[in-house]
Amino acid sequence: MAREKLCVGIDLGASSVKLCQLKRTKTGYALLNFGLVPLPSEAVVDGALMNSPRIVEAIQELMAAHRIKNKHVALSISGHSVIIKKIPLPQMSAAELQESIQWEAEQFIPFDIQDVHIDVQIVNQQSAQQGQMDVVLVAAKKDLVNEYTSVIIEAGLEPVICDVDAFAVQNMFEANYENALDSTVALVNVGASKTNINIISGGIPSFTRDLTIGGNAFTEEIQKQMNLSFDEAESLKIGGTASGRDTDVVIPHDVQRALQSVAENVTSEVQRSIDFYAATSADPTPSELYLTGGSARLQALARALEARINVPVHTVDPFRRIALNPQDEGYLRSFGPAAGVAVGLALRYAGDG
Ligand SMILES: Nc1ncnc2c1ncn2[C@@H]1O[C@H](COP(=O)(O)OP(=O)(O)OP(=O)(O)O)[C@@H](O)[C@H]1O
Ligand SMILES: [Mg+2]
Repeated sequence: MAREKLCVGIDLGASSVKLCQLKRTKTGYALLNFGLVPLPSEAVVDGALMNSPRIVEAIQELMAAHRIKNKHVALSISGHSVIIKKIPLPQMSAAELQESIQWEAEQFIPFDIQDVHIDVQIVNQQSAQQGQMDVVLVAAKKDLVNEYTSVIIEAGLEPVICDVDAFAVQNMFEANYENALDSTVALVNVGASKTNINIISGGIPSFTRDLTIGGNAFTEEIQKQMNLSFDEAESLKIGGTASGRDTDVVIPHDVQRALQSVAENVTSEVQRSIDFYAATSADPTPSELYLTGGSARLQALARALEARINVPVHTVDPFRRIALNPQDEGYLRSFGPAAGVAVGLALRYAGDG
């Protein structure tokens, strides 16, 4: 079978647009291009694209800077307009499922079924109960999908895959950490405005939840405590963790306290999700937690999670198994976890779903 061409992954995040292009090699994948363009803070608010022209411009800038010819794009969405649920259904064939899913889905989705795109995948032909199977149901508001695909089209490109952030992270994770597929792990993607949680058990997404808290909350707390502008607070926050020199940098006490208090809040939310999962799922509780997203570089967060959740916390390297040019390696490894979603999208090709 001819191998399909991989998509260009474009991650429309609240703090930046990130682009990643990979190619297949004999042994795996190699990076062709990676880039990002920062966005002003009002460009994406609560997942809504408030400044589409700026975002279109950012996408075009990235495509031109890297001279990318491939127009096929994989993008992703997340937040409260997206529902992901693993549900048991009576056993049926994939064709029967496609026919009945609109009707079956209705009881699991708090939106009008006319307003959502539905996607469904059988993950276990045989569930715990006789005559049942498990499927993962994804419902996404058409409005949100249109908003995100429109900026890709306006940039002159073709959106061929619209994924969700949590699954893009899982895709990236599986390409880099194949050993972890046997166990149950929590993937936690902490961006600027939100956090995507995906608990995967044996490679199957068992529970996902998006929180409306992320790196901005840390910056805003520093801003409030120290009476600074957002930008000043942001550079204090990043200064404390820049280029992996955490031990050389003296972080002012006030900053540290602010970081710790928000880290506790994020940790409580993550804990609540894991508790809910444990109470409602037959699958085991996570034995490890993998952090991605730009805010994975906050030491205070990793430490708070490790202390409270009481499992080892690792920072994901999205390029762990991806061949890099030696001259890019330093930059990419330090940028690391923020590239998670873009790398996961760049692993997709049209029709692989
Ligand atoms: N070295 C660092 N130390 C601490 N925080 C950092 C560092 N580098 C980036 N961040 C934070 O990471 C966040 C950006 O991460 P990321 O790029 O994953 O978010 P995004 O995808 O743009 O946003 P979202 O997913 O919420 O839409 C910002 O809040 C930024 O302050
Ligand atoms: Mg993000």
